[in-house]
Amino acid sequence: MPAHNRFLEGPFAPVTEEITAFDLPVTGRLPAELNGRYLRNGPNPLGLDDPNYHWFLGAGMVHGVRLRDGRAEWYRNRWVRSKAVAAQHGEKWPGGPVHENTDFAANTHIISHGGRTLATVEAGPLPYELSGELDTIGPCDFGGTLPGGFAAHTKLDRRTGELHAIAYFWAWDHVQHVAVGADGKVARTTDIPVADGPMMHDFALTHSYVVLLDLPVTFSLNAVTAGMELPYVWNPAHQARVGLLPRDGGSGVRWIEIEPCWVFHCLNAYDEGGKVVVDLCQYNQSFDVSTLWSAHGPVTLDRWIIDPAAGKITQQRLDDRGQEFPRVDDRVISRPHRYGYSAVIGEVTRAITAAGDFGDDAFSNAILRHDLAAGTVEAHEFGREATAGEAVFAPSSADSAEDDGYVMAFVHNPDRGAADLVILATQDFTADPVARVHLPARIPLGFHGSWIPDQ
Ligand SMILES: [Fe+2]
Repeated sequence: MPAHNRFLEGPFAPVTEEITAFDLPVTGRLPAELNGRYLRNGPNPLGLDDPNYHWFLGAGMVHGVRLRDGRAEWYRNRWVRSKAVAAQHGEKWPGGPVHENTDFAANTHIISHGGRTLATVEAGPLPYELSGELDTIGPCDFGGTLPGGFAAHTKLDRRTGELHAIAYFWAWDHVQHVAVGADGKVARTTDIPVADGPMMHDFALTHSYVVLLDLPVTFSLNAVTAGMELPYVWNPAHQARVGLLPRDGGSGVRWIEIEPCWVFHCLNAYDEGGKVVVDLCQYNQSFDVSTLWSAHGPVTLDRWIIDPAAGKITQQRLDDRGQEFPRVDDRVISRPHRYGYSAVIGEVTRAITAAGDFGDDAFSNAILRHDLAAGTVEAHEFGREATAGEAVFAPSSADSAEDDGYVMAFVHNPDRGAADLVILATQDFTADPVARVHLPARIPLGFHGSWIPDQ
């Protein structure tokens, strides 16, 4: 255990205030077609006094910027009011369902589905529903239709309108595939038996399959006894494997064994001639998630081509530069993509590195735009102090082509000591940002977000 906690310092340090600011100053010109809200979730602990604080366990705080008609109408940041967070604010908890006593201020992602804005988290707790202005409405079990906990990462198939998730929980002998209909009610669940209680942070979706990543980071009672706040450790005895769950419900899961590795995030996946293509960010060596500072670099962007008939997976390296938080244009989820966006976040790389074996360029801050058909990558660099977060794509119109639009991210502005919402034109990616919305406060490094256009 380090003498200080790197996840409470510098660009990770939590903010202490909830702010509401209107008519934000903008450098450049905000595209008038961007009408909606950019929301991002992340951990923001209420105090600095826990030396064992794990980055994944800080109370969720959602930061949002409202864009309309070429103006930045507001910025808000709000803690998600779990029971504990409400009590610490001296407020009445809104109340609602709780799964297995796991109430938690969901801190990992924020999405919109079935008319709800949901802050999500994995490993047991329910999502929290927020209002359009980020006030907590309460925990959400999809109107009583969700049997267990939910998941941080979801995939919306725009063809069917269904939102897919993989839920896991330490006390289960299975993980659970959940499909939520466009009406915001769980349409069906499928239990998939697994050994050892694996962490499944993300998964992939194609038209034919739900792609499961059963990797050797598993629940550990020893880690609980040792006081680890997030008791998921590297477990070399757990066979790494990839599973294909047919979406039509037929014939069980096709499992294919692989070499041990760790994956937090998939870029996207699709079917291709009887095979399944999955692009993902891969940790190529062991990674103990219970401590986090055990990663070996770089974290590469790789393509796995899964052949279910042959029971084989072939792997291609798409980009060997250290990167994380891969995203596509959400409209292409589960079908072939050409473009992807990912983030190089120097401070995160530094914080999770065990042996310092990442290359120097991993310590810069950049957003990458991959053209996977051309095999090219463009980097929009922000500079060493300008920590950038996940980049989210916003189309220029509902029916524009893939990659016709903008990517947006919170980027620290060292000159002001506060964050900017940076908006880049995808088709002029390395040029100056189209717009920088100057926010009134710093935003700690966090996790995932969404562009939620007005309906
Ligand atoms: Fe994630």
